[in-house]
Amino acid sequence: MKLLVTGGAGFIGSNFIRYLLKNYPSYQVINLDKLTYAGNLDNLSDIEKSSNYRFTKGDICDQKLVEEIVSEGINVIVNFAAETHVDRSLYDPKSFVNTNITGTQVLLESALKFKIKRYIQISTDEVYGSVEKGEFFTEGSKLLPNSPYSASKAGADLLVRSYFKTFKVPALITRSSNNYGPYQFPEKLIPLFITNALVDKELPVYGDGLYIRDWIYVEDNCKGIDLVLHKGKEGEVYNLGGGAEKTNLEITNLILQYLNKPSSLIKHVKDRPAHDRRYAMECKKAEKELGFKPGVGLEEGLKKTVEWYLTNRSWWEKVKSGEYLKYYEKHYLQREKV
Ligand code: NAD
Ligand code: TYD
Repeated sequence: MKLLVTGGAGFIGSNFIRYLLKNYPSYQVINLDKLTYAGNLDNLSDIEKSSNYRFTKGDICDQKLVEEIVSEGINVIVNFAAETHVDRSLYDPKSFVNTNITGTQVLLESALKFKIKRYIQISTDEVYGSVEKGEFFTEGSKLLPNSPYSASKAGADLLVRSYFKTFKVPALITRSSNNYGPYQFPEKLIPLFITNALVDKELPVYGDGLYIRDWIYVEDNCKGIDLVLHKGKEGEVYNLGGGAEKTNLEITNLILQYLNKPSSLIKHVKDRPAHDRRYAMECKKAEKELGFKPGVGLEEGLKKTVEWYLTNRSWWEKVKSGEYLKYYEKHYLQREKV
């Protein structure tokens, strides 16, 4: 099998490529990534020389380039490439529409033109919007996104559906909950708080900190994507949750506990606008049809993640001294001053 994995230099994409090369040594993988601020070839340094892996720097919106690659005999496209941070989508929604919607359309068009066997769109639980306590989103729930990020992901999902319905592109969608684990860019809650706490910097908790997310260890998501890729039904959507709901303050306190740092590092800051109170999905479909079950519990996964950031200090120190800093100074410091 010859796969085009897009956005493979980011957090989940790099974990997925590593997972693929380990579990399917006969597969050929081409990684197409634009290397935005979130793309980092250091994430793949241990596998960059593998004979069945190749990296190409480029944009999924570049139709000519995408067609050149897909025409090389690609059978499968797995699309991770995206702008992914909700907070950034408040300041620069256009780049989210470009990559997440236009880029997806370019990939679908190539999938159609070159008659690929499978197209997997990596989506998110955020497309469903916020859900009350006690309720759970299913694959049939309405799409009610509240941020430019989630709206652009929902738009992409609808395009994928339309290419399946109209042109019979063999497309499937995965919607996972919040991922965490090695190589996550330290702008997202867990890696930001671990790396801040390690240098005794404040942990900016938005609002009351009682927002709830369902956390999935990245390797479990990779296993779920693998199942969807090999066993999923064309045209279907599969929710892949971790079954581990926690408030942001619970996550923060666990991080502080594992690092033996004081709770005085917690600083409540101005809330994110239209902040979704809770994400939670029912994942019975993936369990029943594909045998999906997350294997790593939150406490175990969080401990492993903290360990990874402790032993890979040079990775995140380099990341945090680059592009990240410019953004942080421009937006986060303003937020903290309010
Ligand atoms: P990330 O921000 O770590 O990585 C995104 C990658 O895409 C980067 O390597 C970046 O360089 C690349 N990219 C961005 N624009 C591109 C373009 N135009 N062309 C080519 N490459 C481009 O993101 P992630 O957290 O690894 O998320 C991967 C996918 O999973 C995304 O589609 C995201 O919406 C989805 N997802 C993420 C989570 C999560 O918790 N992180 C949860 C559910 C779904
Ligand atoms: P994030 O990691 O950005 O993921 P998402 O918004 O896509 O779920 O945020 C997870 C939760 O943590 C969310 O409720 C916002 C909150 N949060 C903070 O309280 N402080 C922060 O500095 C960040 C980045 C997030």
